[in-house]
Amino acid sequence: MASRRARASRPLASVARQSITTIEGLGNAGGLHPVQQRGIDEDVPQCGYCQAGQIMMAVSLLKTTANPSDEQIVEAMSGNLCRCGTCLRIRRAVSAQPRPQPSLRTGIHSSDRGAR
Ligand code: FES
Repeated sequence: MASRRARASRPLASVARQSITTIEGLGNAGGLHPVQQRGIDEDVPQCGYCQAGQIMMAVSLLKTTANPSDEQIVEAMSGNLCRCGTCLRIRRAVSAQPRPQPSLRTGIHSSDRGAR
């Protein structure tokens, strides 16, 4: 929908005659949308069930807030539950903050420890 985010569970009549972008409308033949690529770079997806909604909400947030705070990210992504517990990785993928370095011994990002 033009400049506004909406959940896919809305009645179809509520979006009649409006332009709608879905996950399939991101990116192009040349590559993924930057938010999709960040999700891959941060190893966000587990089962993938929540990813379409998470990515569309992130794209919507970043259109209006180029450098969101953690609180803004949490607020914008609320309502999109990830049963796989990837919330910290989702937040990191949306954030413009530098990525933490993985531990050489475990390969686990230091910010992931004890956070699930
Ligand atoms: S990746 Fe499985 S529900 Fe989010």
